[in-house]
Amino acid sequence: MKDIIIIGAGGVGNVVARKCAAMTSVFGRILLASRTKSKCDAIAADINQAMGVERITTAALDADNVPETVKLLREFKPALVINVALPYQDLHIMDACLEAGVHYLDTANYEPRDVAKFEYSWQWAYQERFREAGLTALLGCGFDPGVTQAYTAYAAKHHFDEIHYLDIVDCNAGDHGKAFATNFNPEINIREITQKGRYWENGEWVEIDAMSVHQGVDYPHVGERESYLLYHEELESLVKNFPSIKRARFWMTFGQEYLTHLRVLENVGMTSIEPIVYQGQEIVPLQFLKAVLPEPSELGENYSGQTSIGCQIRGVKDGEPRTYYIYNNCDHAEAWRDARAQGVSYTTGVPATAGAAMMLQGLWLKPGVYNVEEMDPDPFLKLVAELGLPFEEKINPTLAFD
Ligand SMILES: NC(=O)c1ccc[n+]([C@@H]2O[C@H](COP(=O)([O-])OP(=O)(O)OC[C@H]3O[C@@H](n4cnc5c(N)ncnc54)[C@H](OP(=O)(O)O)[C@@H]3O)[C@@H](O)[C@H]2O)c1
Repeated sequence: MKDIIIIGAGGVGNVVARKCAAMTSVFGRILLASRTKSKCDAIAADINQAMGVERITTAALDADNVPETVKLLREFKPALVINVALPYQDLHIMDACLEAGVHYLDTANYEPRDVAKFEYSWQWAYQERFREAGLTALLGCGFDPGVTQAYTAYAAKHHFDEIHYLDIVDCNAGDHGKAFATNFNPEINIREITQKGRYWENGEWVEIDAMSVHQGVDYPHVGERESYLLYHEELESLVKNFPSIKRARFWMTFGQEYLTHLRVLENVGMTSIEPIVYQGQEIVPLQFLKAVLPEPSELGENYSGQTSIGCQIRGVKDGEPRTYYIYNNCDHAEAWRDARAQGVSYTTGVPATAGAAMMLQGLWLKPGVYNVEEMDPDPFLKLVAELGLPFEEKINPTLAFD
């Protein structure tokens, strides 16, 4: 048993706290730390009451403050930090982990606050420092990024000699009953989908206007949904780690209601990250918008429907062309029953917990900075299934894409 600190007490932090608390043979003492301590206290009180012991303690922490984070790490002495705060904190928490000698895991790659751009270069630049310190940093261990890379690694290990075409398909066919809300942090979510789309083809990145390429995709147990080509961070590491890939794309579904709201918000300037002066005070419109939207952790209770996320792959096996589809469907109502969360928080928090367990059990520890597909997918996907998200696979199906 090893001790951990979870940083971030939002939708995902809640799931990670509950799942880690339940795995008493792997996780020892657990400290839940975040900017707003009352959110940590509410989650911890619920878990501690249900378990009848003080399983989780809490602390206030501004993780952008590196000395404050180092102090907390040195006091609590965890083996690992699970960072489920926001991408802005990634580098600060990595710095603190290096200083205090603690392993690191996150679920989303670093983004600077003032540029809506996400890429791994900033975090990959920590490779030597983590290697020299004998510490492991595991990047992007949620569902996508995260499980989608483990699915690709699993496909490469068991079903293909070479992967040539990869389409990651992400459908949320759920209904939370709100006119407009995002399923994870609204600021990060809206930055992601309003930037230009990008995909990998024949050794280079092809850029497209945001949401300009879309098609219907038939999702298992859901049916056909319009799916939009976006840039998503795992494409960057996957094409690096699987150089046989000729084309890699990421598709996500959006309902018309969501897109209409988003278009209006964009048109009136509410999604901008350029600061403006309002009544003598500088505010960022997107941050103001986040403040008036529901929080991801508030959406769970009456959420119905399912998510369906997976990888559609084309390549060769034993000289023959092969197609393959590996995916998981997650029911929002079941996620609520299991972890008081909606499906998107759940599908992120479960793999983060499983990745942390892999690290603490020594199965996924190697000094340096790694993406999920660089680790053995088998024990991870087995544990992700045991924790609530089993995969299904189809060999040689008809895929949605040529
Ligand atoms: N890989 C995937 O599949 C996937 C999917 C969904 C989300 N994610 C990632 O998961 C992370 C959490 O998402 P979420 O939906 O849980 O977001 P959320 O509900 O907005 O929660 C974020 C939490 O981080 C805390 N926080 C923000 N700044 C902080 C700071 N400087 N120091 C300490 N704590 C800070 C927030 O505190 P306050 O309460 O004070 O605001 C909040 O508790 C995000 O990075 C998101 O991109 C990954």
